[in-house]
Amino acid sequence: MAIEWYPGHMSKARREIAEVIQGFDVVIEVLDARLPASSANPVLQELRRDKPWIKILNKHDLADPAVTKEWVRHLEQHSGVRALPLQAKNRQETGMIAKLCRRLAPHRAKPGKPLRAMIIGIPNVGKSTLINTLAGKRMARVGDKPAITTCQQQIDLRNGIFLHDTPGLLWPDMRNQTHAYRLAASGAIGENALDYTDVALFAATFMAERYPQQIAARYRLESLPETATAILEEIGRRRGCLATGGDIDLHRTAELFLRELRAGLLGRISFEGPGEEFADPLADDSETLASPLPPADPTEP
Ligand code: G4P
Repeated sequence: MAIEWYPGHMSKARREIAEVIQGFDVVIEVLDARLPASSANPVLQELRRDKPWIKILNKHDLADPAVTKEWVRHLEQHSGVRALPLQAKNRQETGMIAKLCRRLAPHRAKPGKPLRAMIIGIPNVGKSTLINTLAGKRMARVGDKPAITTCQQQIDLRNGIFLHDTPGLLWPDMRNQTHAYRLAASGAIGENALDYTDVALFAATFMAERYPQQIAARYRLESLPETATAILEEIGRRRGCLATGGDIDLHRTAELFLRELRAGLLGRISFEGPGEEFADPLADDSETLASPLPPADPTEP
């Protein structure tokens, strides 16, 4: 089953974001450090121009540190862009954001000249967690309404910086099959948007190729079976995920495997490095390849 999750409103969002961005000194874009390309919203990349921009690589506690370093180098090649890996609940790490904002907009954050920063990102990357840490208290989010201009929330960080939270209107680019599967494997998209077994097969294929020792160590596999299905079956056997009659329950195994992968129990992993944004690890594996995604949003001009 293909992942079918592609909400409309893209051109409306493009117009609204283009308008809203004008009013800010710095944009803080929150990405998932495990998949900085797939968790980015394509509209934002188009609209950046020369606006000072901080790319937060959040959840870096779950990502492969060597790959995260490569991402920082890669992203900072663009002028006016700073990349900051962090863990949204970590006060010390998030403290760097104010420093970077001041560096990127040195003419602001002075008495009478507050620095206006906008925080933005697709759902589940950790925006609420980050806002709560920065604000020092639990903030009610503005909700996921398609009305950026009317639903902003302004938070005074009491250091000369005003943070604007925008409704969670942004969504990832689900037209790209590889992006969609990486997002699904990371847990960034809703449960009803995906077939667990397909996603687990994708993730098992990926782990066997990139992090074979980590998957083998977690499930105490002496050698890795050759196909993704056989890997999952072996995991199911070892974890007692059995259906009536003693067969392996592949769905339950997929749930267990994805839960553990997302929680970091298979170690720190990155689903993509710079330059691998559009790679398709399933290209040669027809066994695990789902049917293609539906075409792009029909409301799109
Ligand atoms: P959003 O506003 O962008 O939609 O994301 P939100 O802050 O709700 O975070 C989504 C999930 O990601 C939450 O987990 C949150 O705890 C987790 N998270 C956020 N930042 C980090 C981080 O730096 N590292 C790790 N490992 N996890 C992070 P949840 O299970 O959905 O909710 P909860 O039970 O933790 O509240």
